[in-house]
Amino acid sequence: MSNLPWTWLAIRASGLTAWGLLSAVVIWGILLRTRLLGRVASPMRLLDMHRWLGVTALFFLLIHMIMLIFDKSVAFTIGQILIPGTAPWKAFDVALGTIAFWILIPVTIIGRIRPRLGKRGNAWFKRSHYLAYAAWPIATAHYVLAGTDALATWSLAFLIAISAIIIFALIARGFVPAPAPTRPIREKPTQNVPA
Ligand code: HEM
Repeated sequence: MSNLPWTWLAIRASGLTAWGLLSAVVIWGILLRTRLLGRVASPMRLLDMHRWLGVTALFFLLIHMIMLIFDKSVAFTIGQILIPGTAPWKAFDVALGTIAFWILIPVTIIGRIRPRLGKRGNAWFKRSHYLAYAAWPIATAHYVLAGTDALATWSLAFLIAISAIIIFALIARGFVPAPAPTRPIREKPTQNVPA
């Protein structure tokens, strides 16, 4: 263990943390869109947690990517980290990670500037969140294919347990209704048509 380069350990630890946090972001997003938790947590608290998890996931993801520059075993350049398919090692498996990263960028930015975009912001936010759903399976495929120890017993247990929670939450999303809108829906004023 002591002979292992610290950079390699940091790449793996940050990758696993980023994946765990990304999974938590998806789970919190589903909790937010359903009444699964009932009154246990208010929508505002769930939203705060969802946002905090997203920012933290991105932070660990950046560490995961930056550490690749310092790791001497497979020296990545910044271009190889940012452009899918150009990695010097397991190009396809690593590309999946890069694609997941690029998907998360617009989702994060649109989420932040949504209030300033007015009505258009809501439509963009919805579209970008469909993309966000795609980031999770892509990041998971990256973990399984690129991870050195992805198929070790502890890692498989981690993958299966988290994936089972996500699948359960997704199925529940189809059955548990969405919470009622917090703002009253204004009725259209009826036009006075002269008789
Ligand atoms: C949402 C995006 C990403 C997530 C959640 C993620 C997560 C992970 C996880 C969990 C592993 C397995 C660690 C292990 O060996 O046990 C891994 C490995 C790896 N990732 Fe990522 N990653 C992401 C994006 C990226 C990006 C953008 C790059 C850079 C091009 C990258 C490069 C790598 C490499 C090279 C490995 C292999 C490390 C090794 O085990 O030797 N990843 N990643």
